[in-house]
Amino acid sequence: MIEKPNILVIDDDEAILDSCSQVFKKDGNTVKTAKDGTEGLKLFKKEFFHVVLLDLKLPGPDGMVVLSRIKEENPETPVIIITGYASIESAVEAVKRGASDYLPKPFTPGQLRVAVKKAMDNRKILLENIYLREELEKKSEFDMVVGKSKAMERVLDVVKRISSSDSTVLITGESGTGKELLGREIHNHGPRRKAPFVIVDCGALVETLFESELFGHVKGSFTGAYETKHGRFEVANGGTIFLDEISGIGLNIQAKLLRAIQEREVTRVGSTKPLRIDVRILAATNENLEGLVRKGKFREDLFYRLSVVPIHLPALRERKEDIPYLIEHFLQKYNKKARKNIIGISDGVKKALMDYDWPGNIRELENTIERAVVLSKGSKIELEDLMYHGISTATSLFHPVKGKYHTLDDIEKEYIRTVLLAQQGNKSKTAKILGIDRKTLWAKAKKYKIQ
Ligand SMILES: Nc1ncnc2c1ncn2[C@@H]1O[C@H](COP(=O)(O)OP(=O)(O)OP(=O)(O)O)[C@@H](O)[C@H]1O
Ligand SMILES: [Mg+2]
Repeated sequence: MIEKPNILVIDDDEAILDSCSQVFKKDGNTVKTAKDGTEGLKLFKKEFFHVVLLDLKLPGPDGMVVLSRIKEENPETPVIIITGYASIESAVEAVKRGASDYLPKPFTPGQLRVAVKKAMDNRKILLENIYLREELEKKSEFDMVVGKSKAMERVLDVVKRISSSDSTVLITGESGTGKELLGREIHNHGPRRKAPFVIVDCGALVETLFESELFGHVKGSFTGAYETKHGRFEVANGGTIFLDEISGIGLNIQAKLLRAIQEREVTRVGSTKPLRIDVRILAATNENLEGLVRKGKFREDLFYRLSVVPIHLPALRERKEDIPYLIEHFLQKYNKKARKNIIGISDGVKKALMDYDWPGNIRELENTIERAVVLSKGSKIELEDLMYHGISTATSLFHPVKGKYHTLDDIEKEYIRTVLLAQQGNKSKTAKILGIDRKTLWAKAKKYKIQ
């Protein structure tokens, strides 16, 4: 149902008050009228109005004063100035001071309706934006769980010190330790939070497309360049660019990236005109960049440019004391999502989760809790709810079942399955965690018939 607006009209001209009232009442709205500013403000304080129509020349406090009082009291309320042609200039001035529109006298009922509808629509958009912004802010405050470990305390300390600055940050850590989340956190707590946070997945792009992805290209600059494309740096302008898996870029692009960072400008592929860019740069990697520098696979100068502030996120197994906080957080999150009301975990589950080594780190823990919440039938998560996950199998695999021990093959199979699951089927990541190459992983997966 569309909300019927409650409208306040303030004008010393009785004829205007009458005609406005008639038009609005005919439309099914409610109207209050006031003959001067004092009376108008009194009504405004007492009642909620969706829209105010306000004459500028009023006895008592004049229209400008009334406008600023209304805006002080309730900045969201749109105020439409109604005014004679002689005073258009002051109407424009009123708009500068927060009036949403003005309507020159004399106006037709149609013009009046259009003005009010426009004001109502704007008000709605304004409120939606405020809402979205608040939601997002709430989310960013709430998203990162810090826990109590010394390691995370140190991370947070650095983050607090650097958020308000513009320094380039290199975030390192194993897969699933929260590098991207931390990047967002740094962005959201800094002066650029209202501007975009743009992620570039450097690992996923082929070298030839990479340059145009980062810097953009002009129409016709290469086969397939049908439209001019804005590069990610342009999209991020004023905000933050997050260069994920930075180790994945080739030496050729590294040189171009270095130039962009040093000069603070980019040139679209096929163009000669450089564009100024103002972005904060964050980079992330789960590889040892220094090692790559030593092997000549990563430019040393770029490495130093990126690692002005290095932050290392510890693996979850190095900060197990944080696990209970994370569990609580994910329980709440997935309770809400699955509309369940699980109040906690059993002692057995707690022990299993604390004993486990979490090769997939927080992502794996999150997936585990999500699945358990969905599977759980009671008000507490029990060991059986961890089914289909390595934790329960891994702990039980070491114990004999009906006096019979498992073979090494059984254990290997379960372990590979666990890690694969935690890595969402990503074979490269899984192979890396397991310390084997992709071919070996592929062969083992085939042997054990793991999908
Ligand atoms: N401290 C934390 N509190 C709450 N959730 C977290 C935390 N750290 C990570 N997560 C969650 O774990 C998941 C993985 O985090 P994220 O994507 O940031 O990791 P990553 O280090 O970028 O991993 P990858 O190297 O695989 O890209 C996300 O769903 C994220 O919300
Ligand atoms: Mg990531």
